[in-house]
Formats: sequence, C-alpha cells, structure tokens
Amino acid sequence: MDRKLHAQEASASPKPPLRKPPSKALLRVLSGSPVDPPPIWLMRQAGRYLPEYRALRQSAGSFLEFCFNPELAVEATLQPIRRYGFDAAILFSDILVVPYALGQKVWFEEGRGPKLEALGDAASLDRLRGDELRARLRPVYAALEELRRCLPAATALIGFAGAPWTVATYMLEGGSSRDFAVAKHWMAERPEDFARLMDLLVSATLEHLTAQVAAGAEVLQIFDSWAGALPADAMRRWSLAPLGEIVRRLKAAHPEVPVILFPRAAGEVYRDFARESGADGLSLDSGVRLQWAREELQTRVAVQGNLDPRTLVAGGTRLDDEVRRILSAFGQGPFIFNLGHGILPETPPENVARLVRIVRERQG
Ligand code: CP3
Repeated sequence: MDRKLHAQEASASPKPPLRKPPSKALLRVLSGSPVDPPPIWLMRQAGRYLPEYRALRQSAGSFLEFCFNPELAVEATLQPIRRYGFDAAILFSDILVVPYALGQKVWFEEGRGPKLEALGDAASLDRLRGDELRARLRPVYAALEELRRCLPAATALIGFAGAPWTVATYMLEGGSSRDFAVAKHWMAERPEDFARLMDLLVSATLEHLTAQVAAGAEVLQIFDSWAGALPADAMRRWSLAPLGEIVRRLKAAHPEVPVILFPRAAGEVYRDFARESGADGLSLDSGVRLQWAREELQTRVAVQGNLDPRTLVAGGTRLDDEVRRILSAFGQGPFIFNLGHGILPETPPENVARLVRIVRERQG
C-alpha cells in the first residue's frame, strides 16, 4: 500500500476498520451481522394486491410487454417502496423471461398463469439458444440501471432468477403443474435430455444473474419454488447441486454480491443448503420450524422469512402475535423479515402497513 496514503488515513482516524461495513441494512445482514430492527421486504411485493399496480397493469398490454418495458417495470418496482419504505426493492420481472430469451414461446393468460409451448423432444431442446440471452433481456437490465439511479440511498436492489429445476418444470410441463409428471418422467426416463436441459439452464441463469449485477443489482435471490416436489436425494442432485454451482461461479466473478437461495419446502434438506450451497442467505418457507432453523441454519447463514402469506391476509392480532414470534426466534442473529412465499393478491394493503409497523417498532 502507498505509505503516504496509509499515514494520512491513520491520522484521520486512529483505528481505521479493515473494511467498511455495508451501509444498507440488507447488505449488513447478509454479511453476517444482526440488524435491529431487521430489514424487511416481501416476495412479490409489487403485484395485484396494490391498486396502483392494477392500474399500471391495465396500461401495459401483455404481461411480458410489461416486464420488457423499462419505464413500467421501474414504476412497478417502486410502487411498494413508496408506499411502505421496504429495505429492498426487487426488480419487477419474472423467472420465465429466461425460457423466453432461450427462444421458447411464453405467454401469460389472464387468470390462468403462465403458458409455454412445452418442450417435446430432443429436437425442441436443440432449438433453444443461449447466445442471444443478453440481447433479448436488454430491457430488464435497462430497468435495473434506472432503479440504481433513482432508489433511496438505504434501499438495496435485488436481482433474481428462477432456479434451473423450477424453470425446467415450466419448460417441460408447458405451465404450472400439480404433480410435475412430465418433468419427473424426463428425469427418470430421459436422463440425458433432462441433464442437457439442466446444464443449459445453469449457464443461462448464471449469465442472466451476472448481467443483472453488471446493471446494478446488489443482491441476488434465486427462487426454487418447486424444490419441495423432489424427494431428498433428487433434491440434492437437481436443486442443491445446480444452485451450488451457480453460487460458486457467481462468487468467483463477484465475491462482493450476496446470494439468497429459496429452495421452497426443502424440509430438512435446508440444512444441506446452509452447509454446502455457499449462499449467504436462505429464504425459509412457512413450514420451517423456527427453533430448528435458528440452531441448524442461522448459525451458518442469514435467514429470511417466514410469515405465512395467509396470516398477512387475515391481519389483526393473530398477525401481530405471529410476527412477534418470528422476531423473537430470529431477532438475535442475521435475519431478514419476509413471507414464506409470495404475497397473495387478496392481501389488504393496510395489513402490509401494519406488518411493517410491528417489525420496525420492535425494541432491541
Ligand atoms: O417479487 C416481486 O415483486 C418481483 C416480481 C416477480 C414476479 N414473479 C412478478 C409476477 C417475481 C420475483 C416473480 C417470480 C416468479 N414467477 C416465481 C418464483 C416465486 C414464486 O412465487 O414461487 C414463479 C414460480 C413465477 C412464475 C409465474 N409468474 C407464475 C406461476 C405466475 C402466475 C401466478 C400469479 O401470481 O398470477 C406469474 C405471473 C406474475 N409474475 C405476476 C407478477 C406480479 C402476476 C401477473 C399479473 O400481474 O398479471
């Protein structure tokens, strides 16, 4: 180090810290430090429960057009920040922009959720192409760049992607599924094709997340919403292993960017994620027992969660009690308040205000 610079620093501050702790609460927690009161944001915080979202949605055309219009995506991202002052903004987009960018047909039907032209055979796999991903997702990165310019200084910006397994289920089933029969059939009967699709998704997910970091994302969350549909061994092979590889490769390029994994309904396998994935944080579904998570998970990584979205719909003193129970279980360690899954469209917006108030009123 330049000795002169060192001497100047030393005289300005007698004990200069080796590294400044991050100033945003979310980043501090993800570096392993408890913050009191804990930072709060909610999965799907931009969405249909907000009247201003429904109005914006009407003006946007199709859902994908909405996602690919940077001005509208920025506005949708900011709506919940303005209303509630959450500690983090999550980019308004969707996990299915990745299959779209690989060349698969993707559309959203009103009230019926996402639809895709399901992959049928090896030839449909051959037609998927990763080489245009960044170009096709350019509007998503433009939205992040603009968000970085206009977000309040204390608000962290989260980029995200779906995990390979969850995205593969949509690509193979052609939409949402109850039992994942097609995806599990590929896994068992066409293991080489299935592995090829998963490899392609590991690369595409990594590329999409890396481009989001370049555009200004400060934290990354990877959603494996359907991890819990896999038996434990398959979960380790097709959820934990690909996510671990993605985290390793992200960390090699961007060691400073924390990663949160959400292997929803992973049960006891959450412990393997805490030990082996390399993630900085784990997002917990509402089924995870608080005491167990405090001992087995929070001793190794930051935990995020895990209020039942139904409890937020119900509101009232039941909400207050449940929030306090979660705060008292996790409040002493690195913890981010969130739901156990996305906010439900029927959630009264005033219940969200009540939730934020209770979390922030907590006395240390
Ligand atoms: O959290 C946020 O506010 C950021 C935006 C975001 C959306 N989808 C917007 C969206 C995020 C992070 C997602 C992730 C996502 N998308 C997941 C993983 C998380 C989870 O909930 O399990 C999944 C599985 C999808 C796929 C998807 N997109 C489904 C199944 C649906 C239909 C269900 C529904 O809620 O309508 C979507 C559509 C979607 N994505 C909407 C929003 C706001 C609703 C569409 C609309 O407004 O018309």
